[in-house]
Amino acid sequence: MWTTAPGLTLALAAIRICATPLNPNIAATPTIYLAGDSTMAKLSAPTDGWGQYLSKYVTIPVVNKAIAGRSARSFTVEGRFAEIENLLSSNDIVVIEFGHNDGGSPTSASDNGRSDCPGTGAETCKSGKDGGGVVYTFGHYVEAAAKSYVAKGARVVVSSQTPNNVWEGGKFDGSPSRFVAYAAAAAENVGEGASFVDHFRATAAVYLKLGAARTNALFPKDHTHTSPEGADLVAQAFVEAVARDFNGTTPLKAYLKADNPTVF
Ligand SMILES: *[C@@H]1O[C@H](CO)[C@@H](O)[C@H](O)[C@H]1NC(C)=O
Repeated sequence: MWTTAPGLTLALAAIRICATPLNPNIAATPTIYLAGDSTMAKLSAPTDGWGQYLSKYVTIPVVNKAIAGRSARSFTVEGRFAEIENLLSSNDIVVIEFGHNDGGSPTSASDNGRSDCPGTGAETCKSGKDGGGVVYTFGHYVEAAAKSYVAKGARVVVSSQTPNNVWEGGKFDGSPSRFVAYAAAAAENVGEGASFVDHFRATAAVYLKLGAARTNALFPKDHTHTSPEGADLVAQAFVEAVARDFNGTTPLKAYLKADNPTVF
């Protein structure tokens, strides 16, 4: 009869311990989490958001937490940034992209819970709605979320919002909304651990290259939301922006697939 020598049992136990990563919070393969609005979220036909297509172009998993109708403010107030924070391991990457729902006036009586306080810094507003509370700027909300992620050892990529249909007036207009510069400033203010992608500029360049007719065909419902084909192109614009350092180098660059298409 064969009995396990005590020494062997100990050796096996030691092997098991060594097979465990030294720090279980450092993920061997980082995950990309996406925080954003409808232009990034999973939508129903005939539209879709670009976050649903990103995994085609990167080598690591993507978890799309974007949700339609949200702004940096409502994503904060609803605890959605915090929900992502709880999921993060060190080294994960969070892409934050807002702007479409961040405009408007929070001080009006019909405050929709999404409009940020105007300004680029520590300005605050009082919501015009009864019991609406204090409202902060776009930068405040994005920077607070980004700092909480960086504190957990994650990396943050602040991405500028997508453009609406740049051909809707009949001639090309690729001028950015103010939230594009706000997104760049937010990344800069967070500093170490944060970077910026000018997704607006990259996507506008794709639409310029496609021309009016082909771009218009990507917007089946309104001037903001694209078809699934359009959402896939917007994802391709994002990864090409990352590959070409628009504007700056992000940690995502290390995880791009080698054969991604050139779309602008
Ligand atoms: C990104 O760089 C381009 C080219 O220099 C510039 O035109 C654009 O304004 C920059 N984007 C932001 C948001 O700073």
